[in-house]
Amino acid sequence: MMVASAYRTFFYRLSKSNNIGAILTRALSVQTEAISKNQNASFPVLEVEVDCNDQSYQNATEKGMKSIQQLDKIMAVLSDGGGEKARKRHTELNKKLLVWDRISRLVDPGSEMIDLAPLAGLNLAYGDIPYGGMVCVIAKVRGRYCSITANDGTVKGGTYFPITVTKALRAQHISALHRLPSICLVDSGGGFLPLQAELFPDKQHGGRSFHNQAVLSAAGVPQVAVVCGSCTAGGAYAPTMSDEAVMVDRIGTLFLGGPPLVRAALGEVISEEELGGARLHCGVSGCCDMFAADEDEAFATTRDIIESLNLPEAREDVSEPPLVAPDRLDTLSGLSQLSRDELKLVLASVLDGSRFREFKGSYGVNVITGFGKLGGRLVGVVANHGTVTARDALKMAHLVELCDQRHIPLLYLQNAPPDTVEECSDPEVLKCRARAATVLAASRVPRISVNLTGCHGDQHMTMCGISFEPSFYFAWPRAKFSGVSLSAAAPAPDEAAAAPPRPGKPPSPADKPTKPGRPAKPPPLIQLPKDSSLYYASRVLIDGVIRPRDTRKTLELALAVVSWNTPQQERRHPVIRM
Ligand code: COA
Repeated sequence: MMVASAYRTFFYRLSKSNNIGAILTRALSVQTEAISKNQNASFPVLEVEVDCNDQSYQNATEKGMKSIQQLDKIMAVLSDGGGEKARKRHTELNKKLLVWDRISRLVDPGSEMIDLAPLAGLNLAYGDIPYGGMVCVIAKVRGRYCSITANDGTVKGGTYFPITVTKALRAQHISALHRLPSICLVDSGGGFLPLQAELFPDKQHGGRSFHNQAVLSAAGVPQVAVVCGSCTAGGAYAPTMSDEAVMVDRIGTLFLGGPPLVRAALGEVISEEELGGARLHCGVSGCCDMFAADEDEAFATTRDIIESLNLPEAREDVSEPPLVAPDRLDTLSGLSQLSRDELKLVLASVLDGSRFREFKGSYGVNVITGFGKLGGRLVGVVANHGTVTARDALKMAHLVELCDQRHIPLLYLQNAPPDTVEECSDPEVLKCRARAATVLAASRVPRISVNLTGCHGDQHMTMCGISFEPSFYFAWPRAKFSGVSLSAAAPAPDEAAAAPPRPGKPPSPADKPTKPGRPAKPPPLIQLPKDSSLYYASRVLIDGVIRPRDTRKTLELALAVVSWNTPQQERRHPVIRM
C-alpha cells in the first residue's frame, strides 16, 4: 500500500513537528477518506520535515500575524470607499447603489471573486485613493468568467486618477490574455481635473482603454457597459464604444459636456435628463441599447446579455483538499526566506491532496520543479529557495518546455534574497539563466506568480516577474521586491513603517501642503518602503497582497479563470531538453 505508507510518513513527521491537534484530526479524517478514494490517485504525497515548535517559528508567527493584521486594517479602511459622507450622498441623495452592491447583484450568487488590485492608489504622491477609484473583479456571470470594472462614485465622483487608468488597463490586459468578457459599470465624472495633465501623456494612459475596447471587440472578446451613474467627458466613450450598453433611467447620464458647460458655452439651460438621459440615448441617439427602469433591471438585463454571448459555462472540478491546514502559511510568511523543506510545506498546503510529482529532484540545488494539481487542474510548479544555479536554470527551462508542449499552466513561487557575487560570477550561470528566461518568455501557457518572501534582480526574469507577463501576480505581505541583483548592494529594510489606518474619506488631491489659511493635507494611511509588496500593489505592479492562508483559494480561482476560455496556441518545435 504505497499511498497509505506515504500518508503515514507524512503524518508522523507532521505530528512530530507540529503542535496542532485540530489540524491533525482534520487531516487524519481526510486521510482515511482519501486513501479509500485514491488508490489510483495521481502523484505521491509530499514528505515534509518541518519543526514548527521551534522558537524561530514562534517569532515567525508573530511577525507573520502582525503583517496580516496590518493588511486587514488597511483593507477595512479602503473598503469604505470615499467615506461616510460620500456614501450618504451617493445612496440617499443620488439614489444609487454602492459599488459592491452593484457587483453582488450582477454576479452569480456565491460566485468566488478575484478582487484585482484592491490596494491600487495607496500612499500616492497625490493622496490615498481607495481602490484607485475603481473596483475590478473577475467573477462568474451566468456561469462565465467576466472581468468587471466598476467606478466607485463615492471616490471623488468616480473620476479617473492616473492610477485608475493603470488599473483599468491591467484588467483589460488580463481580459485580453484569457478572453474574458468585459463588463464596465460606469459611474464617473470623467478625468480628475487637477491631474488632467497626467492622464493623457503616453500610450499606456488616457484614451488607451477605449482603443483596447475596440481591439478586444474585434478579437471577439465581448464588451458590455452599464450606465448606472454619470458618464461625463471621456467616460461617455466607455458605453458608446461597447458592443452592447444598458442605461438606467434617471440615474444614468451620458454626455461629453454637461448642462453647466452647455449653459456657459451656449447660454442654453437644459436638464441632465434632456441632455443625456436614458430615454434620449436608448430611444433617440442610440448611444445605448437597453433601457432599464432601475439598477436591478439593468443588472438582470446584463446577465441576459452574458447568457447570449454563446460562450460555454466554466466547468466545476472536484478536487482533493490538501492535508496541511492553510494557516501554517501565516507562520511561514513571517520568515525572511523559506528553506527547501519549508517551501515543500507551502506546496503541501496549496496542492490538491498535498501531492506533487517532483521533476529532476536530484538535479540542481535551489529550485524545486514538478507537477501537481490545484482545484483538480494540472499545474507545473517552479519554486526557488536560493540562487538559480546553472543546473537549476536548465531544469526550469526543461519544465517550461514540457508545460508548453502539454498546455499546462505554470505556477512560480518566488522565494530568494538577491544573489551574492560568488553565486553568479560564472558565465555558465548567465548562459543558462538566459535560456530559462528565453524559454519562459516564448512559452504560450498561462503563468501565475506569487512572491512568498523575495524576488530580486534577474529573478524577475527567470522566476516570472512583472515583465514576463504573469496572468496574475500576487505577494505575501512581507515579501520584498527589488531590481537589485547582488545582495551586497541591497540592505533591505525589514518592516513597512506603518502608521495606523485613518478612517474617513480620502484626502483631496487638490490640497496643497499647509499654507496660512489652508487646511493641512491629511496624513497618509501608511508610509510604504519601496521594496514592500504593499508598495508594488499600490502602483498596480502586482495584482494584490494576499493573506498567506488564502494562497490556495486564490490560486485555485486564478487557475480556473485562466483555464476557462484561453485559446491553446500551436507549438512548432520539439521539447529541447537541456
Ligand atoms: N475632477 C475633480 N473632482 C471632481 C470631478 C472632476 N471631474 N467631478 C467631481 N469631483 C469631485 C467634487 O469636487 C466633489 O469633491 P468633494 O467631495 O471633495 O467635495 C466630489 O467629486 C463629488 O462631487 P459632487 O458633485 O459633490 O457629487 P455628485 O455625486 O453630486 O456628482 C458628478 C458627481 C461626477 C456627476 C459631478 O461632480 C460632476 O458632474 N462633475 C463634473 C464632471 C466633469 O465636468 N468632468 C469633466 C472631466 S474631463
